[in-house]
Amino acid sequence: MLGNPALFRQWMLRRSRTASFKRRLDFDAIERPHYGYGVWQAATQARALGVNRISVYEFGVAGGAGLMCLERVAEDVERETGVRIDVYGFDTGKGMPPPTDPRDLPFAWTTGLFRMRPKRLREKLTRAKLILGNVTNTVPKFLYRQYPAPIGFVSIDVDYYTSTVDALRLLDATAEFLLPRVFIYLDDVIGDDLETHCEWVGELAAVREFNDAHAQRKIGRINGLRHKRIIPAPWNDVMYVLHAFDHPRYNAYINTSKWPAPTAASNAAAPTSEGVAGQRSQNGAVEVIVRPIPQGTGAAAG
Ligand SMILES: C[S@@+](CC[C@H](N)C(=O)[O-])C[C@H]1O[C@@H](n2cnc3c(N)ncnc32)[C@H](O)[C@@H]1O
Repeated sequence: MLGNPALFRQWMLRRSRTASFKRRLDFDAIERPHYGYGVWQAATQARALGVNRISVYEFGVAGGAGLMCLERVAEDVERETGVRIDVYGFDTGKGMPPPTDPRDLPFAWTTGLFRMRPKRLREKLTRAKLILGNVTNTVPKFLYRQYPAPIGFVSIDVDYYTSTVDALRLLDATAEFLLPRVFIYLDDVIGDDLETHCEWVGELAAVREFNDAHAQRKIGRINGLRHKRIIPAPWNDVMYVLHAFDHPRYNAYINTSKWPAPTAASNAAAPTSEGVAGQRSQNGAVEVIVRPIPQGTGAAAG
């Protein structure tokens, strides 16, 4: 570690009481940096779009270690970005349900694993809401019962293919419930040697089906994330993003810290063959509105 300045800095930051959350995140000097990265990216996207409240999710809570970590991350990110963050956790409350499909990998997981003590967990939670029941039943009712702030980050850790299919139904929500790009952590796509994950089983099979079923919404892995990190780590390979091309604000320009926002004049000069139009946003920048990809074209196919 002493020979590697980045690892030494990480070691220092883990012990720091004054370093900012973002600084610690940059060096993976926080617990579950995959949660930190997803929530941070979601909140900064929201702030750039003028959205002041978002919601973040853990599907598969078990004992609650992950959900409590997500609460702490939400608190830190909220403090540094000013974006309010609501936290939700989904679980049966009784451990894994029976597997119902070979793609659930019943040779790797089985009924009743990862039990929760709901009462004890609820007592420890500071801001998260627990939604108990099988996600087959709870997800379809959730939006209209809770009316959550726009969804910004989702952790999927329900292990089974069938459970992931049901969890991903959350991302069928209409645009008012979504940020244009939703950050997603998939917990079960590497696993141990027995798990042998691929696009035909488990969480990856559910993602492939989601993409096949949606022309205007695609979930894709963040390509090359490990090359953007100061200290590359396995979690870099399992971060995904839902691109909601049908979101009315998908094309809103938010890269102003790097390059200035387009002006009305530069938009007027831009190609307009796809119906490009300029529209002033809340923060004064000009948003480029492009029609969604037409259904049934090669570009939209999964
Ligand atoms: C591996 S554990 C989650 C661990 C947790 N994310 C953590 O990091 O501490 C998987 C959880 O998914 C839940 N789960 C699996 N399928 C489910 C379903 N169809 N509906 C609700 N919960 C489900 C199980 O109850 C189990 O607690």
